[in-house]
Amino acid sequence: MSEPEHHPAPLRIVTCGSVDDGKSTLLGRLLHDANQVFADHMATVANESKRWGTQGNDPDFALLIDGLQAEREQKITVDVGFKHFATSNRRYLVADAPGHEQFTCNMASGASTASVAVLLVDARNGIVDQTRRHSCILDLLAVPHLVVAVNKMDLVDWSKDCFESIIESYQDFTSNLSFESVNFVPISALHGDNILEPSSKSPWYEGPTVVNCLDAVSAESVESERPFRMAVQWVNRPTPNFRGYSGTVASGEVRIGDEIVGCISGTNATVVSLINGGRETTRATTGQAVTLQLDRDIELGRGDVLGTAAEPPELSDQFAAKLIWLGDEPMFPHRQYSLKIATQNTSARILKLDYVVNVITLAHEPATTLTRNQIASVKLELARPVVFESYRVDRSLGGFILIDRITNETVGAGMIEFSLRRAANISWESFQVDKEQRGKRLDQKPCLLWFTGLSGSGKSTIAGMVEEMLIQRGKHCYILDGDNVRHGLSRDLGFTDADRIANIKRVAEVAKLFVDAGLITIVCLISPFRNERQMARELVEESEFIEVFVDAPLGVCEARDPKGLYQKARRGELPNFTGVDSPYEAPEDPELVLRTDKPTARELATQVIDYLEKNDLLRA
Ligand code: ADX
Repeated sequence: MSEPEHHPAPLRIVTCGSVDDGKSTLLGRLLHDANQVFADHMATVANESKRWGTQGNDPDFALLIDGLQAEREQKITVDVGFKHFATSNRRYLVADAPGHEQFTCNMASGASTASVAVLLVDARNGIVDQTRRHSCILDLLAVPHLVVAVNKMDLVDWSKDCFESIIESYQDFTSNLSFESVNFVPISALHGDNILEPSSKSPWYEGPTVVNCLDAVSAESVESERPFRMAVQWVNRPTPNFRGYSGTVASGEVRIGDEIVGCISGTNATVVSLINGGRETTRATTGQAVTLQLDRDIELGRGDVLGTAAEPPELSDQFAAKLIWLGDEPMFPHRQYSLKIATQNTSARILKLDYVVNVITLAHEPATTLTRNQIASVKLELARPVVFESYRVDRSLGGFILIDRITNETVGAGMIEFSLRRAANISWESFQVDKEQRGKRLDQKPCLLWFTGLSGSGKSTIAGMVEEMLIQRGKHCYILDGDNVRHGLSRDLGFTDADRIANIKRVAEVAKLFVDAGLITIVCLISPFRNERQMARELVEESEFIEVFVDAPLGVCEARDPKGLYQKARRGELPNFTGVDSPYEAPEDPELVLRTDKPTARELATQVIDYLEKNDLLRA
């Protein structure tokens, strides 16, 4: 028999609540009272408690939790700490999520695998906004069971009325969420009341203790009822004649003899051996790490997902999802982010922000961007299809994160609801004539000259001359100019960051089609963000994108002020003006820099033509 059958995986708990609600104390209590605290550790706690001046005989259990000193100083806990404890019933793994608003990110990561959440509420304060926010996130993350521990009951004289009014004020809220169970327990974490054993101080309370609530949670997950799925983490080749595929079983189970399919490669094979924890086994179940060998070598690598051949998972590149925004920078629809789902990586953008959830009232509210901690319903589009499941039935194949492509920070956590059917019904139509043939006929290599720079830097003037020179040479080109596209294609867009991003995305997509038409395509947009210029670059082939930075200092542009817009902006009549109260991120590594201080516009245009010639783009 394999080892995990002797020791079932610990049940995962996440604890959360506002700063100072007593999470750390409760956790210390659970660890201590469940006899998991070693004697020497306890001695340190006793000493530390003296230092912190804790009153009475009870050691300060909050001190058992790592990083506490920092918490004391800053009133926040920064990282999720994982702790083990056990009751006579089973083992537990606790993720301690910090309470400060800013750390929703840590909470989301702690909760995404939890079966039960313990949410601390201070009896004196009752339900606060943070309690609602955390409940909402727990619900979104599909944590099935919620224990609301109403703490510090000793400080309200164990008032039954106080406890009941908290329940009353909260039941309406939680009944709109989808928890399978919600239990309220009156406790004192400091004194250990109603944590493990029922307390004599609350004779009016006949419900379960915190540990009773935890022990009652079923270890069965939705995932274990589902067909077999496993994201391949790596291909294990210790010797030339062994090839194993390793990963954690996301759902269902796999047995020797099962026919499985690599969903991305689309090839089938039969499982011939299974290794779990260094031992051969005959089956592996949800949550277990396993290496499996197949009866034949198939195209299968990290990022592919194995599924049972009888019920293979779906692939899609457009989804409806819920999103929790975690980034310092707001989320902008149409901006490109890196996306990770299980072991699959690609990029994605939000096509539509349907609504933001007001976490206090649960109302759906319209929005154009998302700021940190906001929860929204969105439609998103991925750069390529991925294997997925709905988050409610499979958290590991339904949960994704979004990463900022410039800073590499995790900026969002998402939960897939369903795939958009339109994704499956549209394919790219290939015609007999292709881009290369079109370019040949025009005797040129199609490319995209992307002019970026401040308003008044001279982008349009130089681009106009480049076009003239190209036409004189018999070349075929077209200018997509910011001012012009805003008369039609982007007429509905203004100059907020979100609108600029949408504008740049549209123009980049049109430019891509023009390049496909065989044209030398010139885009003149301020395009102030690195992120969107990178997006445009990736829409065409590497050799086709030429970023031209029209580098005129702000002072120079402002002195020219051809349309009087800088003056207007300085007078406060034109908000979000680039360079004045809206940023411009200069290119870091453009193909061409045109310094506009000395040379004439014609000389600069000649530099562009020289570049095209040098790179052999003016001949087919
Ligand atoms: S972008 O940021 O979306 O790339 P775009 O190139 O289309 O900007 O801007 C086109 C023109 O709009 C600018 O050249 C300028 O003349 C005018 N304009 C009007 N309002 C603004 C503003 N707030 N910021 C910048 N340009 C503006």
